Amino acid sequence: MKILIPLALLLVLATPSVAQQAGEAEFGKRCARCHDTAAAVAILKPHTDAKERAAWLERKLSRHHARDAGERKAIIGYLERALGATK
Ligand code: HEC
Repeated sequence: MKILIPLALLLVLATPSVAQQAGEAEFGKRCARCHDTAAAVAILKPHTDAKERAAWLERKLSRHHARDAGERKAIIGYLERALGATK
């Protein structure tokens, strides 16, 4: 049974579409009641430097509704893709 969890994680990380859905689902669960995706992307837009943005988001979200590192990673990935789609 114990092997199933790392295997499932590996699958999620290895399959972009699955990882994307996980990020979207986490965002829906953790963030959407206060921010819709467009609003969250609008918040990110002034942070034009990708490295600075990633570091800022990591700091911000670790204290703001996404304390779990895995969840935070999925949500940040989802937001980065949403931001990329609006460029
Ligand atoms: C309970 C409502 C609520 C939830 C849930 C919530 N937020 Fe927020 N968020 C706010 C409010 C209010 C602010 C503005 C005040 C602040 O910065 O804390 C904000 C600010 C932010 C900011 C900008 C902060 C800044 O310093 O400019 C980001 C980015 C953000 N939220 C992303 C998220 C993400 C991603 C999630 C899900 C993990 C999330 N929020 C969940 C209410 C919420």
